[in-house]
Amino acid sequence: MGTSRMFRVFVILGSAFMILLIIIYWDDVGASHLYLHTPVSPGPKIPHPPPEQRTQTSRTPSFLSDIDAFVNQFLEPGTGEPTDPAPLDTGNQSDKAEEPYVPRREWKIHLTPVIAELRQRQEQRRRLLQEMCSNDSVVFPGKNRSFDDIPNKELDHLIVDDRHGIIYCYVPKVACSNWKRIMIVLSESLLQDGVPQRDPLAIPRDLVHNSSMHFTFNKFWKRYGKFAKHLMKVKLKKYTKFIFVRDPFVRLISAYRNKFELRNEDFYRRFAKVMLRHYANQPTPPASVDEAFAVGVHPSFSHFVQYLLDPQTEKEAPFNEHWRQVYRLCHPCQIQYDFVGHLETAEDDAEHLLRLLRVDNVVEFPTTHRNLTASSWEADWFNAVPVETRRELYKLYEPDFRLFGYDRPDSILNE
Ligand SMILES: *[C@@H]1O[C@H](CO)[C@@H](O)[C@H](O)[C@H]1NC(C)=O
Ligand SMILES: *[C@@H]1O[C@H](CO)[C@@H](O)[C@H](O)[C@H]1NC(C)=O
Ligand SMILES: *[C@@H]1O[C@H](CO)[C@@H](O)[C@H](O)[C@H]1NC(C)=O
Ligand SMILES: *[C@@H]1O[C@H](CO)[C@@H](O)[C@H](O)[C@H]1NC(C)=O
Ligand SMILES: *[C@@H]1O[C@H](CO)[C@@H](O)[C@H](O)[C@H]1NC(C)=O
Repeated sequence: MGTSRMFRVFVILGSAFMILLIIIYWDDVGASHLYLHTPVSPGPKIPHPPPEQRTQTSRTPSFLSDIDAFVNQFLEPGTGEPTDPAPLDTGNQSDKAEEPYVPRREWKIHLTPVIAELRQRQEQRRRLLQEMCSNDSVVFPGKNRSFDDIPNKELDHLIVDDRHGIIYCYVPKVACSNWKRIMIVLSESLLQDGVPQRDPLAIPRDLVHNSSMHFTFNKFWKRYGKFAKHLMKVKLKKYTKFIFVRDPFVRLISAYRNKFELRNEDFYRRFAKVMLRHYANQPTPPASVDEAFAVGVHPSFSHFVQYLLDPQTEKEAPFNEHWRQVYRLCHPCQIQYDFVGHLETAEDDAEHLLRLLRVDNVVEFPTTHRNLTASSWEADWFNAVPVETRRELYKLYEPDFRLFGYDRPDSILNE
Protein backbone atom coordinates (compact mmCIF):
# COMPACT_ATOMS: atom_id res chain seq x y z
CA MET A 1 0.00 0.00 0.00
CA GLY A 2 2.61 2.53 1.15
CA THR A 3 5.14 1.52 -1.48
CA SER A 4 2.68 1.68 -4.37
CA ARG A 5 1.67 5.18 -3.34
CA MET A 6 5.35 6.15 -3.13
CA PHE A 7 5.86 4.67 -6.56
CA ARG A 8 3.01 6.73 -7.98
CA VAL A 9 4.39 9.89 -6.43
CA PHE A 10 7.77 9.14 -7.99
CA VAL A 11 6.23 8.58 -11.40
CA ILE A 12 4.32 11.84 -11.21
CA LEU A 13 7.33 13.80 -10.03
CA GLY A 14 9.48 12.20 -12.70
CA SER A 15 7.02 13.08 -15.45
CA ALA A 16 6.74 16.65 -14.23
CA PHE A 17 10.51 16.93 -14.26
CA MET A 18 10.72 15.59 -17.80
CA ILE A 19 8.09 18.03 -19.01
CA LEU A 20 10.01 20.86 -17.39
CA LEU A 21 13.18 19.77 -19.15
CA ILE A 22 11.38 19.60 -22.47
CA ILE A 23 9.99 23.09 -22.00
CA ILE A 24 13.37 24.49 -21.09
CA TYR A 25 15.26 22.87 -23.92
CA TRP A 26 12.56 23.06 -26.53
CA ASP A 27 14.04 26.23 -27.96
CA ASP A 28 17.39 24.61 -28.57
CA VAL A 29 15.75 21.69 -30.34
CA GLY A 30 13.49 23.92 -32.41
CA ALA A 31 16.23 26.42 -33.11
CA SER A 32 18.83 24.20 -34.69
CA HIS A 33 17.27 24.59 -38.10
CA LEU A 34 16.36 28.23 -37.74
CA TYR A 35 18.32 31.04 -39.15
CA LEU A 36 17.88 34.19 -37.12
CA HIS A 37 17.67 32.24 -33.95
CA THR A 38 20.93 30.37 -33.71
CA PRO A 39 21.88 28.08 -30.84
CA VAL A 40 24.99 28.58 -28.77
CA SER A 41 26.87 25.71 -30.28
CA PRO A 42 27.72 26.04 -33.95
CA GLY A 43 24.70 24.49 -35.65
CA PRO A 44 24.78 22.81 -39.04
CA LYS A 45 23.18 25.76 -40.85
CA ILE A 46 25.53 28.47 -39.64
CA PRO A 47 27.69 29.19 -42.63
CA HIS A 48 31.35 28.94 -41.77
CA PRO A 49 33.92 30.30 -44.15
CA PRO A 50 35.92 27.59 -45.86
CA PRO A 51 38.98 26.67 -43.78
CA GLU A 52 41.55 28.07 -46.21
CA GLN A 53 39.80 31.42 -46.24
CA ARG A 54 39.66 31.40 -42.47
CA THR A 55 43.37 30.95 -42.03
CA GLN A 56 43.88 33.77 -44.50
CA THR A 57 41.63 36.23 -42.73
CA SER A 58 42.51 35.39 -39.14
CA ARG A 59 44.91 37.85 -37.69
CA THR A 60 47.91 36.91 -35.58
CA PRO A 61 47.28 38.86 -32.40
CA SER A 62 50.22 40.87 -31.20
CA PHE A 63 50.86 39.39 -27.81
CA LEU A 64 52.21 42.27 -25.85
CA SER A 65 50.22 45.14 -27.26
CA ASP A 66 47.22 44.42 -25.10
CA ILE A 67 47.43 42.78 -21.72
CA ASP A 68 43.88 41.41 -22.07
CA ALA A 69 44.69 39.67 -25.33
CA PHE A 70 47.87 38.40 -23.71
CA VAL A 71 45.99 36.77 -20.86
CA ASN A 72 43.43 35.38 -23.31
CA GLN A 73 46.17 33.57 -25.20
CA PHE A 74 46.94 31.50 -22.13
CA LEU A 75 43.36 30.87 -21.25
CA GLU A 76 42.33 29.83 -24.74
CA PRO A 77 45.11 27.81 -26.27
CA GLY A 78 44.51 26.91 -29.90
CA THR A 79 42.10 29.71 -30.72
CA GLY A 80 44.15 32.45 -32.24
CA GLU A 81 41.06 34.43 -33.14
CA PRO A 82 39.20 34.74 -29.85
CA THR A 83 35.86 35.39 -31.58
CA ASP A 84 36.04 32.27 -33.69
CA PRO A 85 34.02 29.41 -32.26
CA ALA A 86 35.71 26.65 -34.29
CA PRO A 87 39.27 25.41 -33.79
CA LEU A 88 41.59 26.90 -36.37
CA ASP A 89 43.78 23.93 -37.17
CA THR A 90 41.15 21.74 -38.86
CA GLY A 91 41.95 21.58 -42.52
CA ASN A 92 39.84 18.47 -42.76
CA GLN A 93 36.18 18.23 -43.73
CA SER A 94 35.61 14.86 -42.04
CA ASP A 95 36.97 16.25 -38.78
CA LYS A 96 34.65 19.18 -39.12
CA ALA A 97 31.58 17.03 -39.48
CA GLU A 98 32.19 15.66 -36.00
CA GLU A 99 33.08 18.99 -34.50
CA PRO A 100 32.76 18.67 -30.74
CA TYR A 101 30.62 21.11 -28.80
CA VAL A 102 32.80 24.13 -28.20
CA PRO A 103 31.28 26.67 -25.85
CA ARG A 104 31.89 30.25 -26.93
CA ARG A 105 34.60 31.71 -24.76
CA GLU A 106 35.14 34.89 -26.59
CA TRP A 107 35.05 37.44 -23.84
CA LYS A 108 37.81 39.64 -22.67
CA ILE A 109 39.37 39.03 -19.30
CA HIS A 110 39.51 42.30 -17.42
CA LEU A 111 42.13 42.87 -14.80
CA THR A 112 40.42 45.85 -13.22
CA PRO A 113 36.89 45.80 -11.82
CA VAL A 114 34.14 48.03 -13.21
CA ILE A 115 34.35 51.50 -11.66
CA ALA A 116 32.36 51.52 -8.41
CA GLU A 117 30.47 54.61 -9.48
CA LEU A 118 29.06 52.85 -12.55
CA ARG A 119 28.04 49.80 -10.56
CA GLN A 120 26.31 51.93 -7.93
CA ARG A 121 24.53 53.90 -10.61
CA GLN A 122 23.03 50.69 -11.98
CA GLU A 123 22.06 49.51 -8.53
CA GLN A 124 20.30 52.80 -7.88
CA ARG A 125 18.41 52.73 -11.16
CA ARG A 126 17.30 49.16 -10.63
CA ARG A 127 16.24 49.85 -7.07
CA LEU A 128 14.31 52.96 -8.11
CA LEU A 129 12.46 50.93 -10.73
CA GLN A 130 11.48 48.36 -8.12
CA GLU A 131 10.38 51.02 -5.67
CA MET A 132 8.29 52.83 -8.25
CA CYS A 133 6.66 49.62 -9.41
CA SER A 134 5.54 48.85 -5.87
CA ASN A 135 4.64 52.44 -5.00
CA ASP A 136 0.90 52.98 -5.41
CA SER A 137 1.37 56.68 -6.09
CA VAL A 138 2.78 55.77 -9.51
CA VAL A 139 -0.28 54.75 -11.52
CA PHE A 140 -0.51 53.76 -15.15
CA PRO A 141 -2.64 51.37 -17.21
CA GLY A 142 -1.37 47.80 -17.14
CA LYS A 143 0.88 48.35 -14.13
CA ASN A 144 -0.70 45.61 -12.03
CA ARG A 145 -1.10 42.94 -14.68
CA SER A 146 1.12 39.87 -14.77
CA PHE A 147 3.53 39.05 -17.57
CA ASP A 148 1.08 36.40 -18.82
CA ASP A 149 -1.55 39.07 -19.37
CA ILE A 150 0.60 41.19 -21.68
CA PRO A 151 -0.77 40.76 -25.21
CA ASN A 152 1.50 39.23 -27.81
CA LYS A 153 1.74 42.33 -29.96
CA GLU A 154 2.98 44.44 -27.04
CA LEU A 155 6.12 42.32 -26.83
CA ASP A 156 7.36 43.46 -30.24
CA HIS A 157 10.07 45.70 -28.81
CA LEU A 158 11.98 42.95 -27.01
CA ILE A 159 14.83 41.73 -29.21
CA VAL A 160 16.30 38.38 -28.21
CA ASP A 161 19.83 37.16 -28.86
CA ASP A 162 20.11 33.50 -27.86
CA ARG A 163 23.74 33.24 -28.84
CA HIS A 164 24.84 35.52 -26.01
CA GLY A 165 21.76 35.37 -23.81
CA ILE A 166 20.72 38.99 -24.21
CA ILE A 167 17.34 40.70 -24.37
CA TYR A 168 17.12 44.34 -25.45
CA CYS A 169 13.99 46.43 -25.29
CA TYR A 170 14.36 49.17 -27.84
CA VAL A 171 12.93 52.61 -27.29
CA PRO A 172 12.86 54.75 -30.44
CA LYS A 173 14.69 58.08 -30.14
CA VAL A 174 17.07 56.66 -27.53
CA ALA A 175 20.10 55.56 -29.58
CA CYS A 176 17.99 52.65 -30.72
CA SER A 177 19.54 52.41 -34.21
CA ASN A 178 22.96 51.87 -32.71
CA TRP A 179 21.80 49.24 -30.26
CA LYS A 180 19.85 47.48 -32.97
CA ARG A 181 23.02 47.43 -35.06
CA ILE A 182 24.86 45.85 -32.16
CA MET A 183 22.13 43.22 -31.76
CA ILE A 184 22.44 42.38 -35.47
CA VAL A 185 26.21 41.98 -35.15
CA LEU A 186 25.85 39.79 -32.05
CA SER A 187 23.18 37.56 -33.58
CA GLU A 188 25.43 37.08 -36.63
CA SER A 189 22.29 37.17 -38.73
CA LEU A 190 23.74 39.44 -41.39
CA LEU A 191 26.37 37.90 -43.62
CA GLN A 192 28.91 39.86 -45.61
CA ASP A 193 30.72 37.71 -48.19
CA GLY A 194 29.75 34.60 -46.24
CA VAL A 195 31.03 35.81 -42.87
CA PRO A 196 28.97 37.59 -40.23
CA GLN A 197 29.07 41.35 -40.45
CA ARG A 198 31.09 42.64 -37.50
CA ASP A 199 31.02 46.36 -38.08
CA PRO A 200 27.81 47.90 -36.70
CA LEU A 201 28.17 51.04 -38.81
CA ALA A 202 28.47 49.05 -42.04
CA ILE A 203 24.86 47.85 -41.69
CA PRO A 204 22.60 49.83 -44.02
CA ARG A 205 20.00 51.99 -42.29
CA ASP A 206 16.96 50.39 -43.88
CA LEU A 207 18.12 46.96 -42.74
CA VAL A 208 18.65 48.13 -39.16
CA HIS A 209 14.96 48.94 -38.80
CA ASN A 210 13.65 46.05 -40.86
CA SER A 211 11.86 43.84 -38.37
CA SER A 212 12.88 40.72 -40.30
CA MET A 213 16.42 41.33 -39.03
CA HIS A 214 15.38 41.02 -35.41
CA PHE A 215 14.05 38.14 -33.44
CA THR A 216 11.48 39.72 -31.17
CA PHE A 217 9.31 38.11 -28.52
CA ASN A 218 6.12 38.67 -30.48
CA LYS A 219 7.43 36.26 -33.12
CA PHE A 220 7.50 33.42 -30.57
CA TRP A 221 3.85 32.59 -31.08
CA LYS A 222 4.26 31.61 -34.69
CA ARG A 223 7.16 29.40 -33.78
CA TYR A 224 6.34 27.84 -30.44
CA GLY A 225 2.56 28.09 -30.12
CA LYS A 226 1.40 27.49 -26.59
CA PHE A 227 4.94 26.98 -25.29
CA ALA A 228 5.74 30.58 -26.14
CA LYS A 229 4.94 32.19 -22.79
CA HIS A 230 6.84 29.52 -20.83
CA LEU A 231 9.86 29.93 -23.03
CA MET A 232 9.80 33.68 -22.76
CA LYS A 233 9.69 33.43 -19.00
CA VAL A 234 12.65 31.05 -18.99
CA LYS A 235 14.60 33.38 -21.24
CA LEU A 236 13.66 36.40 -19.17
CA LYS A 237 14.98 34.61 -16.12
CA LYS A 238 18.21 33.36 -17.68
CA TYR A 239 19.19 36.20 -20.01
CA THR A 240 20.59 39.66 -19.34
CA LYS A 241 17.94 42.27 -20.08
CA PHE A 242 18.70 45.88 -20.86
CA ILE A 243 16.97 49.07 -21.82
CA PHE A 244 18.04 52.63 -22.68
CA VAL A 245 15.89 55.61 -21.75
CA ARG A 246 16.14 59.42 -21.80
CA ASP A 247 14.34 62.44 -20.42
CA PRO A 248 10.74 61.96 -21.67
CA PHE A 249 10.19 65.57 -22.76
CA VAL A 250 13.51 65.73 -24.57
CA ARG A 251 12.60 62.47 -26.28
CA LEU A 252 9.36 64.09 -27.50
CA ILE A 253 11.23 67.11 -28.84
CA SER A 254 13.67 64.80 -30.57
CA ALA A 255 10.80 62.81 -32.13
CA TYR A 256 9.15 66.01 -33.32
CA ARG A 257 12.35 67.37 -34.88
CA ASN A 258 13.17 64.09 -36.55
CA LYS A 259 9.75 63.29 -37.95
CA PHE A 260 8.15 66.68 -38.68
CA GLU A 261 10.95 69.19 -39.21
CA LEU A 262 12.63 66.91 -41.72
CA ARG A 263 10.87 65.76 -44.87
CA ASN A 264 9.29 62.46 -44.03
CA GLU A 265 6.55 61.44 -46.42
CA ASP A 266 5.26 58.62 -44.26
CA PHE A 267 4.96 60.68 -41.09
CA TYR A 268 3.60 63.63 -43.03
CA ARG A 269 0.74 61.56 -44.45
CA ARG A 270 -0.03 59.61 -41.32
CA PHE A 271 0.33 62.27 -38.66
CA ALA A 272 1.25 65.78 -39.83
CA LYS A 273 -1.84 66.10 -42.01
CA VAL A 274 -4.07 65.13 -39.09
CA MET A 275 -2.41 67.76 -36.91
CA LEU A 276 -2.71 70.46 -39.56
CA ARG A 277 -6.36 69.65 -40.12
CA HIS A 278 -7.39 69.54 -36.48
CA TYR A 279 -5.17 72.05 -34.74
CA ALA A 280 -3.85 74.45 -37.40
CA ASN A 281 -7.08 75.42 -39.13
CA GLN A 282 -6.09 73.81 -42.41
CA PRO A 283 -9.06 71.77 -43.61
CA THR A 284 -7.18 70.77 -46.78
CA PRO A 285 -3.47 70.46 -45.99
CA PRO A 286 -1.01 69.98 -48.90
CA ALA A 287 -1.15 66.43 -50.25
CA SER A 288 2.54 65.54 -49.99
CA VAL A 289 5.43 66.55 -47.79
CA ASP A 290 7.22 68.20 -50.72
CA GLU A 291 4.25 70.42 -51.45
CA ALA A 292 3.96 71.26 -47.77
CA PHE A 293 7.64 72.18 -47.47
CA ALA A 294 7.42 74.23 -50.69
CA VAL A 295 4.80 76.48 -49.10
CA GLY A 296 6.46 76.35 -45.68
CA VAL A 297 3.71 74.41 -43.93
CA HIS A 298 4.39 71.98 -41.14
CA PRO A 299 2.80 71.34 -37.77
CA SER A 300 4.38 73.24 -34.91
CA PHE A 301 5.61 71.65 -31.72
CA SER A 302 2.51 72.85 -29.94
CA HIS A 303 0.30 71.21 -32.59
CA PHE A 304 2.19 68.02 -31.88
CA VAL A 305 1.54 68.39 -28.14
CA GLN A 306 -2.16 69.01 -28.84
CA TYR A 307 -2.23 65.86 -30.93
CA LEU A 308 -0.72 63.85 -28.06
CA LEU A 309 -3.25 65.19 -25.57
CA ASP A 310 -6.30 64.79 -27.79
CA PRO A 311 -8.34 61.81 -26.47
CA GLN A 312 -9.36 61.11 -30.08
CA THR A 313 -5.76 60.21 -30.99
CA GLU A 314 -5.58 57.02 -28.94
CA LYS A 315 -9.12 56.07 -29.93
CA GLU A 316 -7.94 55.68 -33.50
CA ALA A 317 -4.65 53.88 -32.84
CA PRO A 318 -2.14 53.50 -30.01
CA PHE A 319 0.62 56.11 -29.97
CA ASN A 320 3.30 55.63 -32.59
CA GLU A 321 6.37 53.99 -31.07
CA HIS A 322 8.40 57.19 -31.43
CA TRP A 323 6.27 58.89 -28.80
CA ARG A 324 4.73 55.93 -27.00
CA GLN A 325 5.61 55.91 -23.31
CA VAL A 326 8.47 53.62 -22.31
CA TYR A 327 6.29 51.88 -19.74
CA ARG A 328 4.04 50.76 -22.59
CA LEU A 329 6.89 49.68 -24.86
CA CYS A 330 9.02 47.78 -22.36
CA HIS A 331 6.84 46.72 -19.39
CA PRO A 332 9.40 47.66 -16.71
CA CYS A 333 7.19 46.39 -13.88
CA GLN A 334 6.81 42.92 -15.40
CA ILE A 335 10.37 42.56 -16.69
CA GLN A 336 13.19 43.05 -14.23
CA TYR A 337 15.82 44.82 -16.28
CA ASP A 338 19.39 44.04 -15.30
CA PHE A 339 20.72 47.19 -16.86
CA VAL A 340 19.08 50.59 -17.31
CA GLY A 341 21.08 52.92 -19.52
CA HIS A 342 20.43 56.63 -19.84
CA LEU A 343 21.11 58.47 -23.07
CA GLU A 344 22.47 61.34 -20.98
CA THR A 345 25.31 59.06 -19.85
CA ALA A 346 25.33 56.90 -22.99
CA GLU A 347 29.07 56.52 -23.45
CA ASP A 348 29.88 55.31 -19.95
CA ASP A 349 26.77 53.17 -19.88
CA ALA A 350 27.49 51.57 -23.25
CA GLU A 351 31.00 50.63 -22.22
CA HIS A 352 29.81 49.25 -18.91
CA LEU A 353 27.00 47.32 -20.56
CA LEU A 354 29.09 45.70 -23.29
CA ARG A 355 31.54 44.60 -20.66
CA LEU A 356 28.75 43.22 -18.49
CA LEU A 357 27.38 41.31 -21.48
CA ARG A 358 30.90 40.01 -22.16
CA VAL A 359 30.84 41.11 -25.75
CA ASP A 360 33.19 44.07 -25.48
CA ASN A 361 35.75 42.49 -27.74
CA VAL A 362 33.16 41.61 -30.35
CA VAL A 363 31.58 45.04 -30.81
CA GLU A 364 32.11 48.61 -29.83
CA PHE A 365 29.33 51.10 -29.34
CA PRO A 366 29.44 53.48 -32.30
CA THR A 367 30.11 57.01 -31.11
CA THR A 368 27.71 59.50 -32.64
CA HIS A 369 29.00 62.91 -33.50
CA ARG A 370 25.53 64.26 -34.14
CA ASN A 371 24.35 66.94 -31.76
CA LEU A 372 21.78 65.51 -29.42
CA THR A 373 18.74 67.53 -28.48
CA ALA A 374 20.02 69.39 -25.43
CA SER A 375 17.77 69.52 -22.37
CA SER A 376 18.72 73.17 -21.99
CA TRP A 377 16.61 73.91 -25.06
CA GLU A 378 13.55 72.40 -23.47
CA ALA A 379 12.24 75.73 -22.22
CA ASP A 380 12.54 77.26 -25.69
CA TRP A 381 10.59 74.45 -27.24
CA PHE A 382 7.80 74.78 -24.73
CA ASN A 383 7.58 78.59 -25.06
CA ALA A 384 4.53 78.46 -27.30
CA VAL A 385 2.80 75.78 -25.24
CA PRO A 386 0.46 77.10 -22.49
CA VAL A 387 1.50 76.12 -18.96
CA GLU A 388 -1.77 74.27 -18.37
CA THR A 389 -1.09 72.14 -21.47
CA ARG A 390 2.46 71.45 -20.34
CA ARG A 391 1.13 70.09 -17.06
CA GLU A 392 -1.29 67.83 -18.88
CA LEU A 393 1.55 66.57 -21.01
CA TYR A 394 3.57 65.91 -17.89
CA LYS A 395 0.70 63.82 -16.49
CA LEU A 396 0.74 61.74 -19.66
CA TYR A 397 4.45 60.97 -19.32
CA GLU A 398 4.78 61.15 -15.52
CA PRO A 399 5.25 57.37 -15.06
CA ASP A 400 8.28 57.47 -17.38
CA PHE A 401 9.74 60.41 -15.44
CA ARG A 402 9.30 58.63 -12.12
CA LEU A 403 10.20 55.06 -13.09
CA PHE A 404 13.52 56.10 -14.58
CA GLY A 405 14.50 58.85 -12.17
CA TYR A 406 14.02 61.98 -14.27
CA ASP A 407 13.11 65.02 -12.19
CA ARG A 408 9.84 66.79 -12.74
CA PRO A 409 10.80 69.76 -14.99
CA ASP A 410 9.66 72.40 -12.52
CA SER A 411 11.04 75.33 -14.48
CA ILE A 412 8.69 74.47 -17.33
CA LEU A 413 5.69 73.43 -15.29
CA ASN A 414 5.63 76.21 -12.66
CA GLU A 415 5.27 79.55 -14.33
C1 LIG B 1 41.18 13.88 -42.54
O1 LIG B 1 40.71 13.00 -41.53
C2 LIG B 1 40.71 11.64 -41.95
C3 LIG B 1 40.04 10.82 -40.85
O2 LIG B 1 40.21 11.42 -39.58
C4 LIG B 1 42.17 11.19 -42.20
O3 LIG B 1 42.18 9.85 -42.63
C5 LIG B 1 42.76 12.10 -43.27
O4 LIG B 1 44.13 11.78 -43.47
C6 LIG B 1 42.63 13.56 -42.88
N1 LIG B 1 43.07 14.40 -43.97
C7 LIG B 1 43.82 15.47 -43.78
C8 LIG B 1 44.17 16.26 -44.99
O5 LIG B 1 44.24 15.78 -42.68
C1 LIG C 1 5.79 56.60 -2.96
O1 LIG C 1 6.12 57.80 -3.60
C2 LIG C 1 5.78 58.96 -2.87
C3 LIG C 1 6.01 60.17 -3.73
O2 LIG C 1 7.27 60.16 -4.31
C4 LIG C 1 6.62 59.00 -1.61
O3 LIG C 1 6.31 60.14 -0.83
C5 LIG C 1 6.32 57.73 -0.80
O4 LIG C 1 7.16 57.69 0.33
C6 LIG C 1 6.54 56.49 -1.65
N1 LIG C 1 6.04 55.34 -0.90
C7 LIG C 1 6.81 54.29 -0.67
C8 LIG C 1 6.16 53.19 0.06
O5 LIG C 1 7.97 54.23 -1.01
C1 LIG D 1 -2.90 48.39 -8.62
O1 LIG D 1 -3.06 47.82 -7.33
C2 LIG D 1 -3.09 48.77 -6.27
C3 LIG D 1 -3.21 48.04 -4.97
O2 LIG D 1 -2.38 46.96 -4.93
C4 LIG D 1 -4.25 49.75 -6.47
O3 LIG D 1 -4.22 50.73 -5.46
C5 LIG D 1 -4.13 50.40 -7.83
O4 LIG D 1 -5.23 51.23 -8.06
C6 LIG D 1 -4.01 49.35 -8.91
N1 LIG D 1 -3.74 50.05 -10.16
C7 LIG D 1 -4.37 49.79 -11.29
C8 LIG D 1 -4.00 50.60 -12.48
O5 LIG D 1 -5.20 48.92 -11.38
C1 LIG E 1 12.88 43.55 -44.93
O1 LIG E 1 13.73 42.53 -45.37
C2 LIG E 1 13.04 41.53 -46.10
C3 LIG E 1 14.03 40.38 -46.39
O2 LIG E 1 15.33 40.82 -46.33
C4 LIG E 1 12.46 42.13 -47.37
O3 LIG E 1 11.77 41.13 -48.10
C5 LIG E 1 11.49 43.23 -46.98
O4 LIG E 1 11.01 43.87 -48.14
C6 LIG E 1 12.18 44.25 -46.09
N1 LIG E 1 11.19 45.18 -45.59
C7 LIG E 1 11.35 46.48 -45.66
C8 LIG E 1 10.25 47.30 -45.10
O5 LIG E 1 12.35 46.99 -46.14
C1 LIG F 1 26.97 70.86 -32.98
O1 LIG F 1 27.04 71.92 -32.05
C2 LIG F 1 28.22 72.71 -32.17
C3 LIG F 1 28.21 73.77 -31.09
O2 LIG F 1 27.20 73.58 -30.17
C4 LIG F 1 28.26 73.36 -33.56
O3 LIG F 1 29.45 74.11 -33.70
C5 LIG F 1 28.22 72.25 -34.61
O4 LIG F 1 28.19 72.83 -35.89
C6 LIG F 1 27.00 71.39 -34.41
N1 LIG F 1 27.07 70.25 -35.35
C7 LIG F 1 26.04 69.88 -36.09
C8 LIG F 1 26.27 68.73 -36.98
O5 LIG F 1 24.95 70.43 -36.03
